Amino acid sequence: MLRVENLYKSFNHVKAVEGVSFEVSRGQVFGLLGPNGAGKSTTISVISTLLEPDSGDVFLEGKSILSNPEIIRKNLGVVPQDIALYPTLSGYENLSFWGSVYGLRGAELKKRIAEVSDVIGLNGRLKDRVDKYSGGMKRRINIGAALLHKPEILIMDEPTVGIDPQSRNHILDTVLELNRQEMTIIYTSHYMEEVEYLCNEICIMDEGRIIASGNKQELIDLVKEKTQINIKLNTMNDSVLSALKEIKGVYEGRLNEDMIVLFVSGSTALTAEIIAKITENGWFIESIDVKKPNLEAVFLHLTGKALRD
Ligand SMILES: Nc1ncnc2c1ncn2[C@@H]1O[C@H](COP(=O)(O)OP(=O)(O)OP(=O)(O)O)[C@@H](O)[C@H]1O
Ligand SMILES: [Mg+2]
Repeated sequence: MLRVENLYKSFNHVKAVEGVSFEVSRGQVFGLLGPNGAGKSTTISVISTLLEPDSGDVFLEGKSILSNPEIIRKNLGVVPQDIALYPTLSGYENLSFWGSVYGLRGAELKKRIAEVSDVIGLNGRLKDRVDKYSGGMKRRINIGAALLHKPEILIMDEPTVGIDPQSRNHILDTVLELNRQEMTIIYTSHYMEEVEYLCNEICIMDEGRIIASGNKQELIDLVKEKTQINIKLNTMNDSVLSALKEIKGVYEGRLNEDMIVLFVSGSTALTAEIIAKITENGWFIESIDVKKPNLEAVFLHLTGKALRD
């Protein structure tokens, strides 16, 4: 549906985006995951025709958006990273303003405002001024504004940063609900849990480049040998550790102060084997914690640094 092809964009000496390509299929929740400064917003700005790339192009159903910006503008809703609302106007007036920007008028505009208010769950507060809203409520109005013209594709740029957990959960549910209604969604975030939860296709971005892509399982398979098992036993010494390290599939182990830490190639059968070995030897488990690899581990594996600062 949407194909981003070899985008480059620099700001003076800063190379914000360096050769970014990806494809978003219809009906996907597509995730762009990356730390601060990765180039997510720059990529989004090019897709939404707010910014011209130095080179590269974006194609919607095969048509260049550089040559035909209007095709993407009417099919795209954008929830920007920075909230764009008039603080002294009410939520309703803000929606009404954005609706008119998209060419909606009169009864149609009223109807769409009522519909999107249901989606964003702010019906009771629409008459209040926006500067009386919480961060989460402002964000929800911004989402509503992006939905008024019924776009086929919705882009959300870090929509849950700095808001309360209730609004955050509401936004995540909204994304899934909109997707059930067949909207294609591009979601950027530096929260790997959100991207894991929402997205069926994920690109991991760092320093202007896509460093890995695939569905969640494909990405996690890049580090599948990295399941970490933390075990506390009644007996903790080097011979216990050696015994556990003998198990096939345990490829690394160490004895921390009060914890045995094993790295294994991620199978549940192996956990059972470890427990069996402990029991056989007459040791007792005080606690056992199996940490499956997640996208954070993938990012760490690929870049040597943590996803969050
Ligand atoms: N208008 C601009 N002028 C100068 N530099 C910019 C501009 N926009 C972005 N940059 C730089 O380009 C790089 C990529 O920024 P971008 O905003 O695309 O990253 P991001 O992944 O959205 O990060 P964040 O998670 O912080 O929003 C950064 O080094 C940033 O400082
Ligand atoms: Mg950004």
